[in-house]
Amino acid sequence: MRKIRIAPSILAWDMGNLREAAEIASRGGADQLHLDVIDGHFAPNITCGPGTVKALRKVSDLKFDTHLMIDQPEAYVEKFMEAGSDLLTFHAEVLDGKRFDKVASAVKAKGKEVGLAIKPGTELPKWATERLDRLSALIVMTVNPGFSGQTMDMGLMPKLERIAKLIEARGSGTDVEVDGGVEPENVMSVVKSGGNVLVAGAGVYSKQDPVSAISTLRERAEAARRGA
Ligand code: DX5
Ligand code: ZN
Repeated sequence: MRKIRIAPSILAWDMGNLREAAEIASRGGADQLHLDVIDGHFAPNITCGPGTVKALRKVSDLKFDTHLMIDQPEAYVEKFMEAGSDLLTFHAEVLDGKRFDKVASAVKAKGKEVGLAIKPGTELPKWATERLDRLSALIVMTVNPGFSGQTMDMGLMPKLERIAKLIEARGSGTDVEVDGGVEPENVMSVVKSGGNVLVAGAGVYSKQDPVSAISTLRERAEAARRGA
């Protein structure tokens, strides 16, 4: 069974002090740091670029899970890899099989991991289903991309379950990453529906004690696994 992993999303922290966001994630025992890259075209916000990733790389040893919510990922993928991203996740909405193959080869050639992401209203396209075995992670978004602090659409649980079962059947070990509105109150449903990587922005950084919020999410996720 795929391991439970907690991925705090720094988008929810003070953007003037991202080093602190990375430190909180490490202290809380997070498995990876979720970095949301938005270009103002694919989604209505503008966030961090390769420069931010490079600066954070100097102060953090965590795995950098880079969620590229941008229209032209090919134009920036090399820059993010050079900056220190470890997992590079592309949106299926902006690619097709041929473009994915090209960009995925470039990422793998550098020894990095490849992921795909889909928005709440997107079904996994056929070309992506055919390439599931090549993905380290599939991000199922449970809010529309753009901002931290939105409420998870629980109506997406059947879709998550369907995708998780498909991945399980392939036996490829691809992580099923759930992104958007993950909170202690819904993390058990998410895990029961097949999610194993839990991205949490507000669910970590808006809490009174963000360090212990990471353990709370992990404990509840593990409890859901045990059938509690
Ligand atoms: C949304 C981003 C998410 C978001 C998560 O566009 O992809 O990663 O920041 O934040 P919360 O957990 O607050 O929804
Ligand atoms: Zn994200």
